[in-house]
Order: sequence, then structure tokens, then C-alpha cells
Amino acid sequence: MTHKIAVLPGDGIGPEITEQAQRVLGALGLDLEMTVAPVGGAAYDLHGHPLPPETLSLAQRSDAVLFGAVGDWKYDSLERHLRPEQAILGLRRAMGLFANLRPAILYPQLANASTLKPEVVSGLDILIVRELTGDIYFGQPRGVRTVEEGNFAGERQGFDTMHYAESEVRRIAHVGFQAAQKRQKRLCSVDKSNVLETSQFWRDIMIDVAREYPDVELSHMYVDNAAMQLVRAPKEFDVIVTGNLFGDILSDEAAMLTGSIGMLPSASLNASQQGLYEPSHGSAPDIAGQNKANPLATILSAAMLLRYSLNAEDQAKRIEAAVASVLEQGLRTGDIYEDGCQLLSTSAMGDAVLKALR
Ligand code: NAI
Ligand code: MG
Repeated sequence: MTHKIAVLPGDGIGPEITEQAQRVLGALGLDLEMTVAPVGGAAYDLHGHPLPPETLSLAQRSDAVLFGAVGDWKYDSLERHLRPEQAILGLRRAMGLFANLRPAILYPQLANASTLKPEVVSGLDILIVRELTGDIYFGQPRGVRTVEEGNFAGERQGFDTMHYAESEVRRIAHVGFQAAQKRQKRLCSVDKSNVLETSQFWRDIMIDVAREYPDVELSHMYVDNAAMQLVRAPKEFDVIVTGNLFGDILSDEAAMLTGSIGMLPSASLNASQQGLYEPSHGSAPDIAGQNKANPLATILSAAMLLRYSLNAEDQAKRIEAAVASVLEQGLRTGDIYEDGCQLLSTSAMGDAVLKALR
């Protein structure tokens, strides 16, 4: 069966890093049909819009999207709806991408990149599963109103609404449990159920869904404690599943534990196993077009694509092993360079991964 992959390089460093990931995917001997289309600033230049209908429909018809990055400075003065970043929001909405998976992996060879002590983070390998389309970010009503009665009567008040529907919690729970099944089979659900009704509801549903996954050990943690444990002993986690607001904060915290933004992949999935895979970093306008960017986050995103959308776990592991081997050989792009290592360009790093794959 041919798998259809939409390749959307974007702007900034997007085209350089995506090209390397595409080469890696092409070298696996799989039956992949990769189609490239413009997105973000590149699409604005060609079509006057960051997410042209042809690009969107290509993405929707594909099994998975490999996305580079968008948001070069030269588009900063555009109106909001034409800005490159709108393309990501548009793709998320149109494809129903509700589950954001962000691994925080610190290869032992890069332990010095972190601001934390090497023994705390070396070998870190955790996964944060963040719900992406619900919670207080989208709840209605929201706004500013004048308070009618009580202590603050007559004052203006800003307000948002936090809610989760049962189906929303169930579907992200399944993503969390299934991700844990592919790893160490430990899932930690993070909430604030000592204070929030939404969180107590979330927790009850997690416990219910857990019955379908007897092989996965479910635990619960309050979000404030989770934030502390992530810096105290992050290696004690395997998979964390949480809502949109808590996940936004914890996933950035977890990413920073590794200190190497050029190494972190991500996936955004929908209910039919379609996914958009992209590096966690942005378009790095400061180094765009210089063949300097680290392509490994994008190459590792391609590994996630194989794992989650194509069920090709073995091939995903092959890519991850090739990346580890390249680091073991002391090969580095500038962002992860240390004394005694060999400095490589973007394309030379792609070459090195290809060589390690064989
Ligand atoms: P950024 O991640 O693009 O860059 C932050 C710093 O990290 C820069 O110094 C950059 O050179 C470096 N860096 C990032 N990726 C790298 C890589 N692969 N190799 C080597 N160095 C790398 O974040 P920033 O500067 O906040 O945003 C730049 C633009 O990217 C903005 O317009 C922003 O909106 C956009 N952005 C896009 C995202 C996406 O496409 N999903 C995500 C985040 C930001
Ligand atoms: Mg954030």
C-alpha cells in the first residue's frame, strides 16, 4: 500500500531541514508518495495566502504531513490572517488535530546542553501528550463584563471558561494510553482535581479508560507538583497526559530540560491516525538560508510520522538509532556543538544520518 505524505517545508530554515528529513524517509525502502506544497511565507509569496486551498486539500488527503517551519521576520508586518503562523492553526482546525505529542529526549552525548545537572537529565526520554483543541483556551463564554453583585459589584471583570466534554477527555486518554503502550507503559495524568471540577471529571474518565489498558500503569499528579517533579527528577516520568492549558506550560518546561531546541520533534494527531509532524522549534530567521540549521528535530519528526501515522515502529526506531549513532560519532551542527566535535552543515548532517541508516 502506498502511503501519501504531504511535505510542507514552509519558510525560514523550513526548506533546508525538511529536505534532509525527506531524504531520510526516501531511503527506508518504503512505498511512500511524497508531494511537496508551499505553506506559510513561501505560500504567501506564491499565492498571497499562507494556507492556499490546494495545500490544505493535499494535507487532508494525505496519511501524514511533514511540516518544516514558518514565520520568517519579513512577514511580520502582514495582517494577522495572512501571517505564516495562521497556516498551522488552519491545518490544526481543518484536520481536527487534537493530540499534541512532544517527546523531551536528551541524548547522553548532549547532556551538557541542559541547564540542569547532567545526572538529572542525561538519557531523559519522556513524552508529553497535550490536548490541543479544548479547555479554557476555547471555552465559551469569555470576555470582559461588569459584575452585577457581590464584593466586586460595578467593577469590570475578565473571564474565561474551562470545560471538557467527556468525548474530548476519552479520545486524548486513548492517545495517552496507546503512546504508553509503545513505551514503558506508565502514564501520568496531570490535573488540578483538588481545586477544579473540570479536573476531577478528567481524572474520573482517565480511571475509567484505564480499564481498557490493563498493561499500562496509570498515576495522577497535580499540575503544580508535576512542574516541580519535572525539574527535580524528570526521568521518573514515562508519558504525561494533560489538558491544553497545563500541557502548554509543561511541554515547554520539558523541552527546556534538554536545552537543545534543534533536537525536539513533535506530532499533532487526529482521530483517524492522520498527523502533522514538525520540529518543536520555529523558522529560525537568524540562520535561514545558510545551511547551518540542525535538521535532526525534523528527521526525528519523520520518525514519529512512521510510528504514529504509518504504524512502522521498526522504521521509526531505525531513524532514531541513526541519529544516536551520528551523535555518538561526535558529529554536530552549530547549535549543539562542543569542543572536540566535528561541525557539520545542515546537508552534511543529513548525509551523516543517511550513512548511519545503511
Ligand atoms: P525559533 O525556534 O525559530 O528560534 C529560536 C532560536 O533557536 C534562534 O536563535 C534559532 O536560530 C535557534 N534555532 C531554532 N531552530 C534551530 C535549528 N533547527 N538549528 C539551529 N538553531 C535553531 O523561535 P523564534 O525565534 O521565537 O521564532 C522565529 C519565528 O518562528 C517566529 O516568526 C515564530 O512565530 C515562528 N515559529 C514557528 C513555529 C512553527 O513553525 N511551528 C513554532 C515556533 C515559532
Ligand atoms: Mg507554549
